[in-house]
Amino acid sequence: MLTQDDKKRMAAKEALKFLPKGAYIGIGTGSTVNFFIEELVPFKDDIKGVVSTSKQTEALLLKYGFEVLNLNEVASLPVYFDGADEVNSLLQMVKGGGGALLAEKVVASVAKNFVCMVDDSKYVSKLGTFPVPVEVLSYARSMVSRKMVALGGRPELRMGYTTEQGNKIIDVHGLNLSTPLELENEINQITGVVENGIFAKHPANVLVIAKDEGVEVKQLGGFF
Ligand code: 5RP
Repeated sequence: MLTQDDKKRMAAKEALKFLPKGAYIGIGTGSTVNFFIEELVPFKDDIKGVVSTSKQTEALLLKYGFEVLNLNEVASLPVYFDGADEVNSLLQMVKGGGGALLAEKVVASVAKNFVCMVDDSKYVSKLGTFPVPVEVLSYARSMVSRKMVALGGRPELRMGYTTEQGNKIIDVHGLNLSTPLELENEINQITGVVENGIFAKHPANVLVIAKDEGVEVKQLGGFF
């Protein structure tokens, strides 16, 4: 039996098959991404540089000698690589367990392709077991929490945590995610909400799932 970390590394290794040559790439945040960066080191010269989504990812990239760029410095990104907290068969995801959801969604929205790397515990028939992280302006957290209750959720402030953009995160349990795109839009329309961790507007188009039996790759709508 493989450990969850073994599977995360396997998924990361397989995802390298989608590495573009001579281009900039985007990279998310988290332990799966950390494995991906380690596996990417031998292929460093194949890419031009990396747009990072967090200080944590940037620090690891710099440690291994990658060129790290700001999103403003690149006009396009062929591929974005990231993990997820949950992903369904439409490759819609819940992300933000690591708190980097805002930059992740911005960078993902620029990329032509989103390659999501997960171990099989993250692949679910229905999103919503993992709480939806909602990034909010600090002074709006109580107001937004009340709106989350009205939506049927149980909000929990992520204690002692401030995002890199200076905001707070409310983890919302128990939301009904039967229509993820609608809920993503509905939450983002609440004044005081900066972004939320539902990735339905920007789903992955490639999903790499590592299991005990091996790696499965699912593609939706092709790879560009
Ligand atoms: C960070 C994220 C991560 O992709 C997500 O939390 C998965 O993390 P890990 O690879 O450590 O399991 O969205 O904001």
